[in-house]
Amino acid sequence: MIPKNYNIDMENISFSYDKRKIIDNLTLHIPEKTTTAIVGPSGSGKTTACKLIARFWDVQDGTVKLGNIDVKDYSMDSLMKNFSFVFQNVILFQDTIANNIKFGQPEASIEKVVEAAKKACCHDFIMRLPKAMIQL
Ligand SMILES: Nc1ncnc2c1ncn2[C@@H]1O[C@H](COP(=O)(O)OP(=O)(O)OP(=O)(O)O)[C@@H](O)[C@H]1O
Ligand SMILES: [Mg+2]
Repeated sequence: MIPKNYNIDMENISFSYDKRKIIDNLTLHIPEKTTTAIVGPSGSGKTTACKLIARFWDVQDGTVKLGNIDVKDYSMDSLMKNFSFVFQNVILFQDTIANNIKFGQPEASIEKVVEAAKKACCHDFIMRLPKAMIQL
């Protein structure tokens, strides 16, 4: 299933890791094509809330919707096609930077890799590394 739009809606959601309630009856509307910052104290559940949108876990109460459709109604594949995450605890593989960038799309050309690096504002930094362009 393809989303009809990219609005994200959380409707009265609650979530606990084991028995400790982290999110209690949260309702949030994030319109498509906008930037939203979720701000709050450390441990208040910001990362957890973002992970619930992409079904890293499922909510125990309420509904998370993408394009007005419950995220549970999408296949995992079509849901994941619509999310990019940059987490706080980033894992890099012990491999070239190019291979790290094209991990999700191994057949990507070097042009696409460079384009992605530019979009992420890390191209200049990468090109300053001593072995840049050697191990492509
Ligand atoms: N996988 C997990 N299993 C159990 N508890 C978890 C797990 N991940 C997070 N927690 C707990 O859930 C609470 C919310 O964590 P979360 O990472 O969502 O907070 P946060 O608002 O993103 O914090 P920070 O500002 O430090 O990034 C914290 O008490 C955390 O210890
Ligand atoms: Mg966090």
